[in-house]
Amino acid sequence: MRRKLAAGNWKMHGLAADLAEAEAVARDHPRPGCDVLICPPATLVARAVDRLSGGPVAVGGQDCHKTEKGAHTGDVSAAMLADAGATHVIVGHSERRADHGETDADVAAKATAAHAAGLIAIICLGETEAQRDAGETLAVVAAQLAGSLPEGATAANTVIAYEPVWAIGTGRTPTLEQIAEVHTALRERLRALLPSEADGVRLLYGGSVKPGNAAEIFAVADVDGALVGGASLKAADFGAIIAALDGAPAA
Ligand code: PGA
Repeated sequence: MRRKLAAGNWKMHGLAADLAEAEAVARDHPRPGCDVLICPPATLVARAVDRLSGGPVAVGGQDCHKTEKGAHTGDVSAAMLADAGATHVIVGHSERRADHGETDADVAAKATAAHAAGLIAIICLGETEAQRDAGETLAVVAAQLAGSLPEGATAANTVIAYEPVWAIGTGRTPTLEQIAEVHTALRERLRALLPSEADGVRLLYGGSVKPGNAAEIFAVADVDGALVGGASLKAADFGAIIAALDGAPAA
């Protein structure tokens, strides 16, 4: 049985005052049936940990460097995130892949660094609109999965997030059939790549998840939770998504 996960990705949003929203998620929307995670910007990780520790909301980073330390101005290592109290880190988000030219090999190296620091890596993948229109979606995500999964990935240390690039921040979502098709295909690929772990690895859907569409998305087989951007910034919206996840059928 896979434990459900609602992960909020604040991206480059959030000042100290916004931690009140994270506290409100913990206070007003506790759901013992789900894991809940908020990934604020790096500047807020330590303060979020201070304010949320001991409660139902874990704190993660949004990216990490592939090495533990060194001359990499502006970067943050997985060890630093762990030292700040983070338990998870997102790697390979499409905005990182697009804005910073990150390749599958880079993503795998970052996930390896995350694991070395004791963090759970949330590895993101997903097709562009042009790739979907060309009928390449399943081949694209299969190649991203194979290239981005690090050696030593397990159900305990790795989460996969399927995020169609064209659905992120656009208000558009795939049909439920399209989500099911990709999640089923990813589970099959995981069985080939990590035979003993595949059935325990959580597969999140991400891209314009909102209170209004969360329940139907969470009812899709092999959807074990969500990676939520915009709707994770307000406790009421994220709380409604968490409630929908808690009410969804068990994986
Ligand atoms: P969105 O972002 O929910 O705002 O579409 C999702 C993500 O990029 O993780």
